[in-house]
Parts: sequence; C-alpha cells; structure tokens
Amino acid sequence: MTSQQHDPHDPHGVHDADQDHRSTPDPTFDFDYTAYDELEDPGQRWSTWLSVEPLCRGPEPRPEWLVTSQGAIDTDLGILKTGKEGDVFLLERADPHQPERAVVMAAKRYRGEEHRSFHRSGAYTEGRRMRNTRDARALAKKSAHGRAVAAGQWAWAEWQALVRFHEIGVAVPYPVQIDGAEILMEWVQVGGETAPRLAQTRPGRELLESYYRQLVDTLTTLVRHGIVHGDLSAYNILAAGERLVIIDLPQVVDLVANPAGMDFLLRDCTNVCTWFRARGLEVDEHELFGELMARAF
Ligand SMILES: Nc1ncnc2c1ncn2[C@@H]1O[C@H](COP(=O)(O)OP(=O)(O)OP(=O)(O)O)[C@@H](O)[C@H]1O
Ligand SMILES: [Mg+2]
Repeated sequence: MTSQQHDPHDPHGVHDADQDHRSTPDPTFDFDYTAYDELEDPGQRWSTWLSVEPLCRGPEPRPEWLVTSQGAIDTDLGILKTGKEGDVFLLERADPHQPERAVVMAAKRYRGEEHRSFHRSGAYTEGRRMRNTRDARALAKKSAHGRAVAAGQWAWAEWQALVRFHEIGVAVPYPVQIDGAEILMEWVQVGGETAPRLAQTRPGRELLESYYRQLVDTLTTLVRHGIVHGDLSAYNILAAGERLVIIDLPQVVDLVANPAGMDFLLRDCTNVCTWFRARGLEVDEHELFGELMARAF
C-alpha cells in the first residue's frame, strides 16, 4: 500500500488532473478536507482497514475501541514475541486528529520467505482444499511463491478459526482484520502489559479451579461445534487476570472429518491436564476426554 493509493488529502484523485489549468479554484471543488501529514517514518503506514476486502474485516458487532478512520496511521511498536511460524508485533492504530482513540493491537505475521518447512503440515491439512492449482504446484515445489502461499494459508486458517471461535463465544482475541500473511487482533493485556501465558503463572487454588472450569467450558463448546484446537497447551492460553484467552489457532482441526481429530483432542486434554496436575489440581485427561465425548454427540 502506498500513500498515493490511500491519500486522505485527495481521496478522489482530482488534484493532479484539474488543478494546474485553473487559476482560481472552482467553488464546486471547494469541499472540506482535513489535512494529514505525509508519512516519512518507515515504521508507519496508512491504516489498512479500508484496503482489505469486507470478509477480511472482523465480525459485527464490532468493539467500540476499533479504529476505522481512513486517515488513521499504523505505527509498529516493535516485536512482542518470535514464534515458530511467525512473529507477533505490537501495532498502534491512531487517527492523528483523534489521538485519544488510539488503540494498540497484536499483529501476527507469518513468515513466507524463510528456508524452512512448516512443522504443522501433514495431518492438520488433510482434507483442506487448495484454491487454485498454480498455488498447489508452487506449494509442492517449495518455491518462494510457494512459501508465501503457505504463509498466507496458515494466516487464513488462523483468521477463520479466530472468527469462528469468537462467534461461538470462545474467549479469543477479537479478530480485527487479515491482510495477506498478517492478522491484526485484539491485544490481550493486563494493566497495560501483555497478558502472561498460563504456563508462566502460579495461580492460587481458587483461581486455578476457576481456570480449569473455564477450559472445560471452552473445550465443551468446541467439541459441540465439532472443532479441536489442535495445539492447546499452557503456552497457547493467555491469563488476562481472572479470564483465560485462547490463542494460536492456525492448526484447528475438524473433530469428525479429520481422521486424527480424536487424537488431537486427547492430546489437547493431556497438555491441559498435565499443567493443572503439576499445579496441584487432581485432574485426569482420560476422564476429561470421556466427558467431552459424552457431551459432543
Ligand atoms: N493477541 C495477543 N495478545 C497478547 N499477546 C499475544 C497475542 N497473540 C500472541 N501473543 C503473544 O505472542 C506469543 C506467540 O503467539 P502465537 O502462539 O500465536 O504464535 P506462534 O508462532 O505459535 O508462537 P509459539 O511458537 O511461541 O507458539 C504468545 O505466546 C503470546 O505471548
Ligand atoms: Mg503459540
């Protein structure tokens, strides 16, 4: 996106064509506009909110903190966490004319150019259809284009899962938008700091029990909709005070259509129960798995 395409000074592109041969401005062209400075900082871009297709913007109703103004600027605030598939950055979106409405979001960017293969391949993607054959061939050849396609596909899979989870009422960061291999989502924070991963916390007994109940509820909702997270663990759950938020969803699998759906579910139960047991709660993955199965169908 260049500032040219998205110039809030001149949204209809009338300046260049008309201005030179008019000595006095035509009063009919005298529409009001607010002036925005040019962007010179390489860590800034015009907000991409309006440049993505409608399906690439978050579901309604939209949270009140969302910044949708055409004149808004995105500022990279730096890397939050380097991950296996990509990196998570903090990004501020603000309209310079409404600085008090500035919002910080998490930007997860999948890597497309690196010389490495995605570890989450085979079993997860079984049954997932490729949109076009050129992409399928590129992916098979592991070309640069192929890697970009793969990055975009993981991002798209995570985007769809975020939207789905959000719609069925599972606590996930609100999905703001997707643009290629970049997902913008709600930044999960506690008092202005990034919420810790569950694995980093040592909750007292009461909070520990509440956390476990929240996860059982989450897993129940998911299996009732035939969905398995597929990589659930204390590392992909954020502890936002008393509330848990589930993250990292690109590998979500279908409980029934995927032949390994049940195995993934049991593994998610095992990861979760192992962590709670280590913190002193007497829970058992096979019992949990059994309860979930009983509720699923
Ligand atoms: N919406 C968010 N709000 C706050 N922190 C986030 C958010 N999304 C991701 N993070 C932080 O970034 C880390 C990596 O995100 P995520 O797990 O989605 O990516 P990943 O590539 O799978 O990383 P990893 O290899 O560490 O699992 C998270 O563990 C968390 O600390
Ligand atoms: Mg993760």
